Formats: sequence, structure tokens, C-alpha cells
Amino acid sequence: MRFTRQTAVALLAVAALFSATACSSSDDPATAEKDVEVFTWWADGGEKAGLDGLVAQFGTACPDFAFVNGAVAGGAGSNAKSVLASRLQTNDPPSTFQAHAGAELSDYINAGQVEDISAEYTEWGLTSAFPKGLIDNITVDGKIYSVPANIHRANVLWSNKTVLAKAGITADATTLDAFIADLDKLKAKGVATPLALGKDWTQVMLLESVLISDLGADKFTGLWNGSTDWKGADVTAAIEKFKKLLTYSNADRDTYDWTDAEKLIMDGKAAYQLMGDWEAADLDAKGFKDYGYSVFPGNTGTFQWLADAFVLPKGAKNVAGTKCWLKTVGSAEGQKAFNVKKGSIPARTDVSSDGFPAYQQAAMTSWKGDKQVPSCAHGSACSQGLQGAIVSAAGKFSTDGDVAALQNALAAAAAQFAAKK
Ligand code: GAL
Repeated sequence: MRFTRQTAVALLAVAALFSATACSSSDDPATAEKDVEVFTWWADGGEKAGLDGLVAQFGTACPDFAFVNGAVAGGAGSNAKSVLASRLQTNDPPSTFQAHAGAELSDYINAGQVEDISAEYTEWGLTSAFPKGLIDNITVDGKIYSVPANIHRANVLWSNKTVLAKAGITADATTLDAFIADLDKLKAKGVATPLALGKDWTQVMLLESVLISDLGADKFTGLWNGSTDWKGADVTAAIEKFKKLLTYSNADRDTYDWTDAEKLIMDGKAAYQLMGDWEAADLDAKGFKDYGYSVFPGNTGTFQWLADAFVLPKGAKNVAGTKCWLKTVGSAEGQKAFNVKKGSIPARTDVSSDGFPAYQQAAMTSWKGDKQVPSCAHGSACSQGLQGAIVSAAGKFSTDGDVAALQNALAAAAAQFAAKK
């Protein structure tokens, strides 16, 4: 073979490829035990800002380790969860991943995909740092497998203040009927989208808020523990109202993530959006100041909660690094650095409200005084199987508007997944 310039270039390319492979983080002893891959769906805006806050604290508390961002974009984990499922299935877990406290976390526990960290709870003094109700929620057979980072509120109505003022709306509606009257006013004023809405899981959030309004907190919680009948007339009435609300929303809702719907508010094309309080952080991160917020009409006194938690996956490559991440997540400093930017409030009870934006200060008060109900769209109320079935029933309803079909599908899904417990 003649040694030409092309041969030399080709050989160099092959050598570069080999050395790149040899130096990949998992093989190189210098980096293998340093990297901590944190898998979330917090890729942009306020979500990323919250993660950045936590990462900064991790840098201070865990100087021996390096954060590696494994975020997969898409609201509520709509893309991340399937990527994670296949990684767990092929024994390629990240160092840690985000999961919702409650039923969703139980899925990973029951599948044997996460480690018991009860001993670390004692070592790090976490057992008394979180409220008892939350600890109960994340305890399975006496063991704890996750560290909650926050408490988010799902049932919040966000608005564009100028759009409301122009339509003469000066007070927050506290009943669904009053809300519908306001939506009519906006429509009459020519507002293109009185109620901005996104795809599947965001529609499930709206349906859950309507169910809370119509059924009340206790009966709503009963939908998830089997004590409320999904086939009841009160559920039918709530679905009818949900159907009515869809008529005020953008027709292209099924193609929108929550941030696309939020943009309609920011652009003044929409008046309201029902969304979790990550929206506060996102609007702040995007510099939009003209927003208002109130509890969803008819939900007053009820705090629909969810919590993001982190775990130690079975087979995680860097256990010491992951534990340092988890310890940071559970620390008062970590919870402050994260929640100030994320729109949520600390799960710990000993973090002072000083330095938090006004929205979170109000949420802290509501969290203490309100009745707490869980969220299925965000895993505190239902397993991933039930959540998936409800999301797909809602998606179908968005197209066909068939009230009886939706109610039957919800009842069938609840029965199917209750039978599996
Ligand atoms: C939730 C998650 C929040 C926020 C939201 C929108 O499921 O708990 O932290 O990220 O999705 O993506």
C-alpha cells in the first residue's frame, strides 16, 4: 500500500476515534467516579433556572464530583419518561433521575429499579426535616427510596393582566360559573383565546381542577383511592363543564406543550391558563411581568400538590457521587437554591421564606392551611399506567368531545389499575 496523504488523514481519524472512545467518561478512571449524570426534563426557562440553582449548590457541597446534565426536554416528562424507561430496561441508568413522589415513585420501587436510602435519611437528618404526610407518601413497606426537592402546586390559574383589564375583569372568579361568564366577556371583546391550553397532560390537569371544583377535595381524592365512583353523576357533570371550557381554548391545543400555551398569554393572545406553579418561575425567567395568578375557580382552600424527588437507581455507576447529589437536594441550602428559581416551595419545613418571590411566599401559607389533594397528571395520585390511560382518553376527548366515552374510559382505567395493586 502506498502511504499517501489521504491514508495519513484516514489513520489519524481512526486514531482520534479510538482515543475518544477510550476517554469516554465511563471508561476513563480519572472521570468515571467524578461524573454524576442527573436525568430530568428541566431543559429550559424557569425549570432550567431551578436546576442551575441546585447545581451551583452541588458544586459547593460536593467539590469531588462533576454534574453532567442528562435533561430531555418536554413538559411533565412527556419525552423523558420513555427515554428513562428504556435506559432502565437495558441496565443503563443515569446516576440519578427525577420522579414524582407518591404513586409514580412506587412504580420504580415495585419494579426494583431504585435503592432503599432509609439509612441515609437517618445519617443526613432528613427524617424530621420533611412533613410527616410527605414522608408517609414516599415510604413503602417502611423504607424510603427518594429525596423530595420541592412541593409544587398544580391548580393555579395564570392570566395576562392587561387582557383581563381591557375586558373589564377586575376580580378573580371563585366559581366555575363565574369563570365561564368571564370567558364569555373575553370572547365578546374579541380575545382570540380566552383560555390557553396545551396537549394531553395539560388537558388532564384542567380536567382534574374541574373535578376538584365539582366534587370537592375529599371526593376528588376518593377517585384515586377507590372510594369515589368514576361513573357517578357528579363526574358526568364535571366532564360536561370541562367540555364547555375546551370551547374557549385554542383549536390547535393538541400540538402545544405548556410553554407554547404560556406564550399565548405572554403575547396577549390569551387571557388565562391553568398550569402548575413552575409557570411563575418560567414567566419570571422570560422577563414577562404582566401576569396575575389565583387558585383555579372553585378550588379555594384546596392545594393540589406534587413533588419532584431524586433517587439512587439500582446499578448507578457513581454511588458516592449520587449520594452527594441526594444529600444536596435534601439540604436546606439546596432546597432554597432550587425552589427560589423553580416556582415551587421547599419540601423541608425549616427553610425560611425570606428571599422567595411573592408567589412562593403565598404558596407557603396555602400549603400549611389548605386541604391537600394529589395530582394524577404529575404522579402523586396515580401510577404511570393509570396516568397513561387517562392521558390517552383525554387526547381522544379533545377530538371527539364524547362525554360518555370519556367517563367510561376513565372508569375502566381506574378499575384496571386498581385491580393491579
Ligand atoms: C412536572 C414537574 C415539574 C415541572 C412540570 C413541567 O411534572 O413535576 O417540576 O417540571 O412537570 O415540565
